[in-house]
Amino acid sequence: MDAVAVRRLLPTSEPLGWRDYGARYGSLPFADAGLLDEVEASGLTGRGGAGFPTAQKLRAVREGRRPVVVANGTEGEPASWKDKTLLRLNPHLVIDGALLAAELVGARRVVLAVGRHGAEQVRIARALAARPDGGAVELATVPERFVVGEESALVHWINGGEAKPTGRRSRPYQRGVDGRPTLVQNVETLANLALVARYGADWFRRDETVLATVGGAVRRPGVVEVPLGVPFPELFSRAGGVTEPVQAYLVGGYFGRWLPAQDTLRLTGEMGARVVVALPARSCGLVESARVVAYMAQQSAKQCGPCLFGLQALAESFATIARAEPEAAEAVARLERLERRIRGRGACAHPDGALGLAASAVRVFGAELSAHASGRCTAHDHEPVLPTPHVKGGWR
Ligand SMILES: Cc1cc2nc3c(=O)[nH]c(=O)nc-3n(C[C@H](O)[C@H](O)[C@H](O)COP(=O)(O)O)c2cc1C
Ligand code: SF4
Repeated sequence: MDAVAVRRLLPTSEPLGWRDYGARYGSLPFADAGLLDEVEASGLTGRGGAGFPTAQKLRAVREGRRPVVVANGTEGEPASWKDKTLLRLNPHLVIDGALLAAELVGARRVVLAVGRHGAEQVRIARALAARPDGGAVELATVPERFVVGEESALVHWINGGEAKPTGRRSRPYQRGVDGRPTLVQNVETLANLALVARYGADWFRRDETVLATVGGAVRRPGVVEVPLGVPFPELFSRAGGVTEPVQAYLVGGYFGRWLPAQDTLRLTGEMGARVVVALPARSCGLVESARVVAYMAQQSAKQCGPCLFGLQALAESFATIARAEPEAAEAVARLERLERRIRGRGACAHPDGALGLAASAVRVFGAELSAHASGRCTAHDHEPVLPTPHVKGGWR
């Protein structure tokens, strides 16, 4: 498998304008019922993190009255850049996918949502203006917070509310934007939909590719397009290769988990939004995890107890452990109790995501945990590896 040769979503390293895009991909076929079967046969799954089968979602929304399509390009995960990169380099493939999805489900309203502080809003506005059908897509620029990309939060914001999740009981595919069935689909998923429509399910399944954000101890951190299942050594070589000895990988971003560094790992569909960060051997996995858990606690929409109080308590325990304070052993003992108080109890998956990362840190950095519990950290360097940006603005 040659990872370098496959470039379906990101064929160029410069933004692909409307005319060049047309020349490269050709015109978009009509969306008919046969296309839904083709999407099903392609096995396309959501690229926003959960990996839900796209055809199943399209069919469910299509059954409702006058549905709405929302293209989710918010990408609140700080370690992920794949959606921003796709929107920058190949905006027309995403827009084609969103328009195609609208045709497939019978939607008249199409909203493309991006973060409000990045350069995406200007780029997408330009891309829409360049197309004859660009007026059919509304551009929504949303607050930049981790949970804003959660589908019910996004729908609530589009409906005029705060960009906070509205709970597991409100399902946008039944009742979403304007109270109508709403298809919320990640922008990478929509770009793939536009490829399936053009080239078919067989083509898609052959060398199916995914976008991955590779960071940490690599020569060229950034976004790469690689075949699904690519071995990690090949993935890292696409990012210029690793620069120093590595102890662990964070896979799936801040909803993901730590894995001990091994060459036998492969990039799979279960690895969330496919963020892979190589943690140098000189760094401390507990210090990194403590910073991320604190960031996740701060990013809570603070609406449910398990998320508001549970994540805060988890962050405090992890901070005590990371600093190898005299109470570190006590804090380690507290983690299990906290897990029981938080797991499955939030109104959305945010606290479970943070908890998963914390639990994997305990498993993977076990030896370091014992060292911290006895008051010392064995790492040589506490320079941050994982980004935990400062939050800007409110929820509206
Ligand atoms: C806290 C939280 C944050 C999320 N952030 C994003 C995001 O930034 N982008 C995204 O596409 N999906 C995000 N999701 C997943 C969305 O809720 C939704 O499942 C996704 O947009 C559906 O698209 P897909 O089926 O194409 O993956 C998030 C979910 C949760 C629980
Ligand atoms: S679990 Fe957290 S982020 Fe999710 S709805 Fe509750 S408070 Fe908000």
